[in-house]
Amino acid sequence: MSSFETLLEFGRSSAVLSPGTIGVVALIILWTLYVLISNPVTIKFLTSLQKQATQTQVPRIPKIPEAPDALPFVGNLMPLGGRLNENDSTIYSQWPKKLSSDIFQIRLGSERAVVANTFSTIKDLWVGHSNDLIDKPQQHGFAEKLEYDLSGANMTEPIRRCRKAATRALGKPLWPTYYHLLEPSSVYLTRELLSKDDEYMDIYPYLRHIVFDLALSLTYGTVSNGVDDEFTDALVESINQISFFRASTQRLRDYIPILRFLIPDFVSGNLVVAAEKRRQKYLDVIFDALKKRIASGEQLSTPIGQGFQSELYDAILAAYSRNRDKAWEMAFREESVELLVSLYKETLRFWTITPYSLPRTTFKDISYYNTVIPKGTTMIMNAQQANHDTAWYGDDALQFRPTRFMGKTDSLPHLTFGAGSRICPAAALSNRIIYALIARLVLAFKINEPKDPRARKANADMLDFSAEYKSLVALPRRFDVSFSPRDEGWIRTKLL
Ligand code: HEM
Ligand SMILES: *[C@@H]1O[C@H](CO)[C@@H](O)[C@H](O)[C@H]1NC(C)=O
Ligand SMILES: *[C@@H]1O[C@H](CO)[C@@H](O)[C@H](O)[C@H]1NC(C)=O
Repeated sequence: MSSFETLLEFGRSSAVLSPGTIGVVALIILWTLYVLISNPVTIKFLTSLQKQATQTQVPRIPKIPEAPDALPFVGNLMPLGGRLNENDSTIYSQWPKKLSSDIFQIRLGSERAVVANTFSTIKDLWVGHSNDLIDKPQQHGFAEKLEYDLSGANMTEPIRRCRKAATRALGKPLWPTYYHLLEPSSVYLTRELLSKDDEYMDIYPYLRHIVFDLALSLTYGTVSNGVDDEFTDALVESINQISFFRASTQRLRDYIPILRFLIPDFVSGNLVVAAEKRRQKYLDVIFDALKKRIASGEQLSTPIGQGFQSELYDAILAAYSRNRDKAWEMAFREESVELLVSLYKETLRFWTITPYSLPRTTFKDISYYNTVIPKGTTMIMNAQQANHDTAWYGDDALQFRPTRFMGKTDSLPHLTFGAGSRICPAAALSNRIIYALIARLVLAFKINEPKDPRARKANADMLDFSAEYKSLVALPRRFDVSFSPRDEGWIRTKLL
């Protein structure tokens, strides 16, 4: 019988708690405590518990302020991971104000991380120390159960080769071999939109279909059956589940070793594994591109966008001496409409679909101003905040200004693809796909806000556009748009 059961028995048998009874109870409690505390195993446990409560993979970094209100074991995790119904970037943005520093350190359970919040600090570290920020933090939910993909792996020799291969496959010289995959998708989209005529609709499933087909063709040389394909839906569902957990601060046990020790990982762990098994390689990242394109459709469908739309239409025609056919034909092959280039850059800047990017790990000690960020520190860029940094972009940083990047050739216009050594290898290809899809949509249709009051309005807020605040990538709220053909006869010549 345990001491606790003895106590219960004791309480039950005595009708009244006399002073004598209370004395005996107190004695038993004291004795139990003594036995527990004097036990060397207990002492070891308590010492390690105390250590666990504050220990991190690297010690506190001098001269970089710490985020307030860290708790034992959890550190600063409590307000993160969507637990306050806000995404991590939004929370990160609040701390520098309290600390009056654009860079600070936080404790994610047992993981010490540095968070950079301004464009120039991020550029200094991610670009200036490109080769020192080349590794990735361990994510336990994934590391224990699955092999890492490229984006989550340290830059070991095999991964270096893998990144090289990815960069080659996604690089400009190979693009011509993708045109025959991309162009039919855009024709398919145009045909579908034309058949809808003036009704309003959600373009999301169609764009999703294009990205999905591209991925399938690249990997398996097949295409899916259509927009409502069950298989497509199931796959996309599994992808969403993955990016829900990927590099996110939602699951406390990924960061707190004692939780992994105390609670066996069978529920959430299996969820991750089950979803991952169904996932196609890199499809979650490809999916980002899709979300991005929807964000751009969003702007074009607001009343403010109407004037810009005809300006863009004229600019596209002007770039091809008003030859519509040439403009259509070249859409995937070159980027000669500067206004459209500026538009997609501004779109990716303004609606930061990867609000806190993907974390990195320092590969060696980094001297940074008057301190040293040690090897093995997690580095987080607050891309959402830096993309709206008035010190970098000027006072209009909080406005969507499609002409912002006209005449600018900065190699790092925004941080939505990351920066430095592990920057997204598909950035240029994604840009080109976005460019071409918008070019062809604008050439073929006038995009309007639906008149029907039942149609869902777009949310064009730079932070609130996403329906999701927990996961790695934003998930734009769904909305309806109406497409009216500019010249149906001409469009039909493109559908052959
Ligand atoms: C608009 C579309 C996209 C966005 C916004 C995006 C964003 C990102 C970001 C923020 C990173 C982390 C970069 C860093 O740590 O500095 C990344 C990495 C990566 N992306 Fe993309 N991505 C997009 C499209 C794609 C596509 C279409 C593919 C593949 C076909 C792709 C493949 C990858 C890979 C393989 C990595 C890992 C690179 C590495 O860790 O070395 N991405 N992406
Ligand atoms: C990358 O290397 C660091 C040591 O520099 C290690 O702490 C970390 O867990 C490694 N990350 C992965 C994903 O293996
Ligand atoms: C960030 O969180 C806010 C809530 O504070 C939410 O409205 C917004 O959609 C989120 N943004 C992204 C990119 O996830």
